[in-house]
Parts: sequence; structure tokens; C-alpha cells
Amino acid sequence: MSFNNLTIQSEVKSFAIQNYQHAFKTFKKFGIDFCCGGSKPLEVACSQRGLDPDEVYEQLNQPPVYKALPSEKNWESLSLQELVENIVVKHHIHMRKILPELTQVMKKVLNAHGKNYPALFEVSKTLQAIRDDLEPHMMKEEAILFPMIQKLDKEGSLQKKIIKQIGNPIRKMTDDHKDLGKLLETMRKLTNHYSVPDNSCATFEYLYKELEALENDLLIHTHKENNILFPKVLEKQSMAIDASR
Ligand SMILES: [Fe+2]
Ligand SMILES: [Fe+2]
Repeated sequence: MSFNNLTIQSEVKSFAIQNYQHAFKTFKKFGIDFCCGGSKPLEVACSQRGLDPDEVYEQLNQPPVYKALPSEKNWESLSLQELVENIVVKHHIHMRKILPELTQVMKKVLNAHGKNYPALFEVSKTLQAIRDDLEPHMMKEEAILFPMIQKLDKEGSLQKKIIKQIGNPIRKMTDDHKDLGKLLETMRKLTNHYSVPDNSCATFEYLYKELEALENDLLIHTHKENNILFPKVLEKQSMAIDASR
């Protein structure tokens, strides 16, 4: 068994929390959303996609053929401060570098192949929409939510009013994640699961490989926020409220 104490009634996100790499591969294969739809029981998530929950559960429990990366395996054990740092360093900084680069590569591919592959125009629009959503989203996390979380981590240093308010930016960020999830789904459909047409040039192949890497990175990023960081913050928030009574 790859997952301890988890059943088809367990929430989808619990599998990703326990063994991200293994759950990620299986959920991606079956098209199960574990980031924004992570609170659904596995059974429900499967039926909504017309899948047999027992079959998915069995595949989840096949032993993984790879080992978890040592530096990335135990996000649950990180403090709020460490999680915030991990997210900013591993994902936000990376996105700020990769998004402008991808926009340039996209332009080149569009100029060279847009005539023969009109879907590329929609791919380009979707990439721009992801960028337009993600850049201000990360800025808001870094300017508003993350500083509140970092203060909350140092117990008692937040005013009662701010403790009560921290749920608002979390809800807003969670809604943004849903919008980003929809854009990633659109991108996946438009690119036919990132499969390049036969005889494509190396730049076309590079673009699709990098777009898929972008999706994978955004899924880990959202999983860390929606399924690990935000629930930890909300738990700490309710403890802080109880203590102040
Ligand atoms: Fe983020
Ligand atoms: Fe986010």
C-alpha cells in the first residue's frame, strides 16, 4: 500500500499531502483535480468524472517506481514561515522568470506556425490570460497575505482585528486559484495534452514541453497553498481566536 489509512472516502487532497509525486501522477492520468477540488472525497471526484473509484484507488496504491525528492517531500512538517519562503523561492521567483521567456517563445512559434495551426492563437491568448492572472495574484500574496501569515506565525503579534480578517485574503486567493485551474484545463485541451504535431520544429516542441512544465509547477504551487498552507493558517487563526476569549 502506498497510502496509510486512506480510503475511497478520504479527501482527494489527503493523498497529495501524504505522497505528492505518486498522487500527482495518478490524478493527472485520470484528470482528477486535487488542488481546487481537493476537499471532495475520492469516491465523489471519481464519479463526477465517470471513473470507477476502486480502479483509481487501486492504481493509487500501486507502489511508486520512483522515490520522493529528499528536499521536497515533507511540506506538511514545515512551519508557516518556512512554507511561505518555500512557495516564494520555488514558485513565485521561478514564474516571474519563466512567464516572460515563454511569451517570447510563444510569439516565435505563432509567427512561424500560426497559419498552419490556428489553435496556436488560442494557446497564445490562454498563456497571456494565465500571466495576467498570475502576476498580480502573486504580488497580492506577497504584499498582503504572506506578511499577515508570517506575523501570525510569531504568536500573539497580530491584532485581534487582523486575526479575524485573515480569512478574507485566503478566500480571494482560493478563488483566483480556481480561475487559474480553469485556464490550465483550457490550455491542456487546446494543446491536446501537450502533444506536438508530427514533424514539428524544435522550438514548437520546446514550447509545449515548457507549457506542460508550467502546468506541473502551478499544480504543486496551488497544492501547497490550498491544501497545506491555508488550512494550517485557518487552524492557527481559530486557536488564536479561542486563546483571546
Ligand atoms: Fe502563490
Ligand atoms: Fe496562490
